[in-house]
Amino acid sequence: MNKVILITGATGFLGSAIMRRFLVLGYKLKLLIRKRQRNRSITEDFILNNRMDESPYGLFLDNVEIFEGDITSKYFGLGKDIYKQLCSEVDEVLHCAAATHFEKQRADELMMVNVNGTENMIWFANSGKQKRFHYISTAYVAGKGEGVIFEDELDNEPQFNNEYERSKFLAEQMVVQYAKENVIPYTIYRPGIIVGDSRTGFTCNFDNLYLFAKVLSNIKDDYINRQGQDSRDQDRNVTIRVPGDPNALVNLVPIDYVADAIVAISQKRETVGKIFHITNPNPPTLNELRNYLTSFLGINGVDISIDGQMEHKHLSTIERLFLRQTRTYHPYIFSKLRFDCSNTRNTLKGAGINCPVISHDLIKILLNYAISHNWGERERVTSQKVVMV
Ligand SMILES: NC(=O)c1ccc[n+]([C@@H]2O[C@H](COP(=O)([O-])OP(=O)(O)OC[C@H]3O[C@@H](n4cnc5c(N)ncnc54)[C@H](OP(=O)(O)O)[C@@H]3O)[C@@H](O)[C@H]2O)c1
Repeated sequence: MNKVILITGATGFLGSAIMRRFLVLGYKLKLLIRKRQRNRSITEDFILNNRMDESPYGLFLDNVEIFEGDITSKYFGLGKDIYKQLCSEVDEVLHCAAATHFEKQRADELMMVNVNGTENMIWFANSGKQKRFHYISTAYVAGKGEGVIFEDELDNEPQFNNEYERSKFLAEQMVVQYAKENVIPYTIYRPGIIVGDSRTGFTCNFDNLYLFAKVLSNIKDDYINRQGQDSRDQDRNVTIRVPGDPNALVNLVPIDYVADAIVAISQKRETVGKIFHITNPNPPTLNELRNYLTSFLGINGVDISIDGQMEHKHLSTIERLFLRQTRTYHPYIFSKLRFDCSNTRNTLKGAGINCPVISHDLIKILLNYAISHNWGERERVTSQKVVMV
């Protein structure tokens, strides 16, 4: 607990959840936060955005030091002296920062932040005293792979669904190679698709599951609002087709499980040199998820039918809209990848840290939170980002 850990990405969804857990455990933290134009001081901004009025507030002031910089810059943009001091003070690095969008047009940024930025971080781990290096990757470095993906697998480059996956794969390979060559103790964590807290529903990321739920919710509203309008309207089919494979496995993992698992694994010596799938061992199928969503949203009288071939068919306006609005996530509603998580299961045995089952009740908790926060719109309007787990 006397260790000093440098965390990147602590303003993000996962990084902030990990940071809070390390704080409560009593570690000293150095946070490398991306430099931004801010009205308030970075500490005020950070405390406010993390709702640090709760218990870790005092711990935060005592045990956290914030450095405004950029992982893509030389010396993180901090200047050589501060960088050198950090090199000698820090015992472990938890590298969570990344560019997390799927936009093809911004592929350069993905390479710059995810590959070059990670390279800078592992060089840092190898400068001054040797530091343990924890790297947050993604289960989807497996790309368009098939079947069961094992944690120690993945030497050959698979085909990717997007440049985000490619950048994370390249970064992971680079970490393993550099760490082996320079004898840096490393551990890699590969989460599935992260959703809100299983107990409170809290999230500050309203993509993936939330995007589909929001579009479905809009469809429902549209039908209700249009009751009584022209009954000959050709868009008012009783069936609405949505894309995907009904048997696709959607690897949703609640943020509390992901953060608890990473923190527990990171504290063990025997996890050095290993890769951990922080994934759902029993992921729901798309068909099950559709049923949970339609039941939660109260979509009655309209059959939401999953259709793997709909791109090639004549579509109604609503179906075209659904297709367009969810397109970036389509790879994940066709994927049948299963992630073996033996390393994680064996390491967490007896620790009481288990991935919650994605049930109707859990979906209710997650979506109630999202709806009460207007699918993330309120946060965007009132503050830069609200982060709390
Ligand atoms: N969310 C998921 O479903 C998921 C699934 C699997 C793996 N992961 C991995 O988990 C990690 C965290 O993801 P997340 O969902 O928490 O993402 P997020 O909310 O988008 O957070 C990304 C973090 O990275 C920081 N960052 C980006 N560019 C930076 C730079 N140049 N210098 C310093 N910091 C920078 C961001 O800072 P700002 O606040 O300034 O933007 C933010 O703190 C990532 O490595 C991601 O690949 C996420």
